[in-house]
Amino acid sequence: MQDTELEKFDEIMRMEEKYHFQVYDRVPIALVRGEGTKVYDTEGNEYLDMLGGIAVNALGHGHPKVVEAIKRQSDRLIHCSNIYYIEPQVRLAKLLVEGCDLDRVFFCNSGTEAVEGAIKLARKWGNKKGKGGRVISMEGSFHGRTLVSLMATGQEKYKKDLYPLPEGFKVVPFNDIDAIAEAVDDDTCAVLVEPVQGEGGIVPADRGYLEGLRKLCDKEGILLIFDEIQCGMGRLGYLFAYQAYDVVPDIITIAKGLGAGFPIGAILARDEVSSAFEPGDHGTTFGGNPLATATGAAVVSTISDEKFLRRIREHGIHFRMKIRSALEGVDVVDHVRGEGLMVGVVLRKSGKEVVSRMLDQGILSNCTADTVIRFLPPLNVRVEEMDRTVEVLARCIREVYPDG
Ligand SMILES: Cc1ncc(COP(=O)(O)O)c(C=O)c1O
Repeated sequence: MQDTELEKFDEIMRMEEKYHFQVYDRVPIALVRGEGTKVYDTEGNEYLDMLGGIAVNALGHGHPKVVEAIKRQSDRLIHCSNIYYIEPQVRLAKLLVEGCDLDRVFFCNSGTEAVEGAIKLARKWGNKKGKGGRVISMEGSFHGRTLVSLMATGQEKYKKDLYPLPEGFKVVPFNDIDAIAEAVDDDTCAVLVEPVQGEGGIVPADRGYLEGLRKLCDKEGILLIFDEIQCGMGRLGYLFAYQAYDVVPDIITIAKGLGAGFPIGAILARDEVSSAFEPGDHGTTFGGNPLATATGAAVVSTISDEKFLRRIREHGIHFRMKIRSALEGVDVVDHVRGEGLMVGVVLRKSGKEVVSRMLDQGILSNCTADTVIRFLPPLNVRVEEMDRTVEVLARCIREVYPDG
């Protein structure tokens, strides 16, 4: 560690404390460079990135196809308004639509914006059919930080001191088909669910539950919306998360991994649903701009490769099995869960100190829902890197909880 570099980090930290809104509980390092699955801080320390920007760096750091797409497109045209036709936008739209069972896409800039747009679309569709605009979502869910997405989010801690709050939402227990059947009424236009809850602690939906939701929505004539912002774009070993469950929703929201680090989000919908929006009903200045969509096209064409997707499924199984066997008999570990490369190690106690020890050992992860150690590595992570993570994880858990 060199003094000058240490000073540099201190300076960054001091400036953050002075100038930025104090809203993030930051880890005390500043990352300045990345290459593949590795990132480096101001002091030159190397970390294995097993969190991938929280499911954003889907292809790791500095992936040649992503870098090339950004360089090429920024040389050509960075931005133009959506009042013009945009070549990379239609290219990405085609890739996404041809990769799923839905018919059309709308591009925006972030996850929360995709969720807001999906709710707006569901309400428009519902209102036009003489229905109300109520959306039912799940306890433990996370859908974003803008006000409407917050209302759909099933975690009260995010909604404090924000009155008056937007209306038309109901939250019911996750993975409980009876609860949702009871909650649906004439006012309801849609059900919103994450196929695998991310922020809620890597909680997969039961297959039967999603099948039940599809049947219920069909019976009631309402829309099924999958929020795939964290679990989509290859994360479960399929381009779209719904493909891991064989349950086709009416609307899908995606973001995070779609740009592999470049900010972009999207809503996909069936034709009959998307047409509820007429010209002028929805729009955005930046959404789907040439640079974002050229990047997205490079990402999606790379992820869509069937061999690449199969490897994600195989690697996910390997990773979870390795963790289970390394932690067998350790009392503090409740269980290991997840799908594909979305993995949660559920402890019976706080996971914070374990995550911090792993950081000291050069591995990035994080703790969500207080007790769940979460891994969302780049989708091209190697077996040796997962194995090293398991070794460090097992050691750190034993150090923090020596009594088991
Ligand atoms: C499932 C899900 N939906 C929505 C969001 C919000 O996305 P963003 O932070 O890009 O607004 C997130 C972010 O973590 C998420 O995991």
